[in-house]
Amino acid sequence: MMHGRKVLLILSGSVAAYKSLELIRLLRKAGAEVMPVLTAGGARFVTKEALAGISGQRVHEDLWAAEAEIGHIRLARWPDLVVVAPASANILAKMAQGLADDLASTILLATRAPVLAAPAMNPAMWMHPATRANVATLAARGIVLVGPEEGPMAEPESGPGRLAEPATILAAIESRFATGLLAGRHVIVTAGPTHESIDPVRYIANRSSGRQGYAIAAALAALGARVTLVSGPTALPDPAGVTVKRIESAREMLAAVEAALPADAAIFNAAVADFRPDSVPTQKIKKEPGAPPPEIHLALNPDILATIAHHATARPRLVVGFAAETEKVVEHAQAKRARKGCDWIVANDVSGDVMGGAENAVHLVTATGVEDWPRLPKDEVARRLATRIAEALA
Ligand code: CTP
Repeated sequence: MMHGRKVLLILSGSVAAYKSLELIRLLRKAGAEVMPVLTAGGARFVTKEALAGISGQRVHEDLWAAEAEIGHIRLARWPDLVVVAPASANILAKMAQGLADDLASTILLATRAPVLAAPAMNPAMWMHPATRANVATLAARGIVLVGPEEGPMAEPESGPGRLAEPATILAAIESRFATGLLAGRHVIVTAGPTHESIDPVRYIANRSSGRQGYAIAAALAALGARVTLVSGPTALPDPAGVTVKRIESAREMLAAVEAALPADAAIFNAAVADFRPDSVPTQKIKKEPGAPPPEIHLALNPDILATIAHHATARPRLVVGFAAETEKVVEHAQAKRARKGCDWIVANDVSGDVMGGAENAVHLVTATGVEDWPRLPKDEVARRLATRIAEALA
């Protein structure tokens, strides 16, 4: 998808600029051509020589020198995408105001290509009302912002302001090129926990937040798919442009998924309860003084993923399951893929702080092999998976 794509990369002044050298390497590895443009601030942090070496292109810095050689309008017309990484508070302000006082800002004003910016600055600068207003202006114009992330900064401070990791910026660039790829497709996504009633007021549940599944539904919708999200109880708002069916139990989830068929793909991210109380009294269970506590007998819930993967008449072309593993992650996922009859398993390494956290480290297990993805924010895992689904259905 990135093959032959032209990316004009503007580096503005930030101590994080060194990370953009890695971004260039990743972009070129993915098949893109990268033309670097350095602002005066950017040139304080990385050298023109390093950029030229890693990009294999000449580096443009000065408006008037570029004018003499190629012209800022031709530079602005060259790329399929303009990426500003790192994007300082200053260049975001210039973009918001439409200033054109150097080569980078002139290209940004003259280009017709989409623009993606990865901000990096001190947390106080990022939180300043002026920057907030500039960012809102840019977002309203359709400029995609990646990050910033929270974490330790060069200064002894922390908060939002860290440049997103190169792999995260790459994932955002890839999905920018995937827009519309899923137009006309229907995808079903399951997400969240299920609640299995014990009596009218009590239930068995689990700690799934639903975040990853909701992010996947949103990412698929962003690529133009019609998405049906079958969700257990969560605290999350409905993702934009997604049809949400809210259910409680595993059996209700299966019925809602079956009702949503046919679909081109189905992504089973829900943490479905494997067992449910086998009979549910209509009245609340009372504690009887002196009597032993009641016993709950469990019955096996249907396996929704396996049921749909073996559907006789309406199996979606692509069926994707998830697996949460703490050890032998890939080995277990491969076995689960065969056992459940699905095409892909997204294997989650949950040995760290993935459950309920903002990031996820996954392996994509398919019939042809295993891809180890870097640790990414859940939104980026979702975008990347959506892009892969689009490619598989193309
Ligand atoms: N799944 C489902 N219906 C169930 C149970 C699981 O659709 N009743 C789906 C989940 O949505 C997920 C995959 O199956 O896609 C997970 O399989 P599961 O057997 O539950 O594996 P894990 O949760 O990873 O746990 P275990 O290691 O116990 O197999």
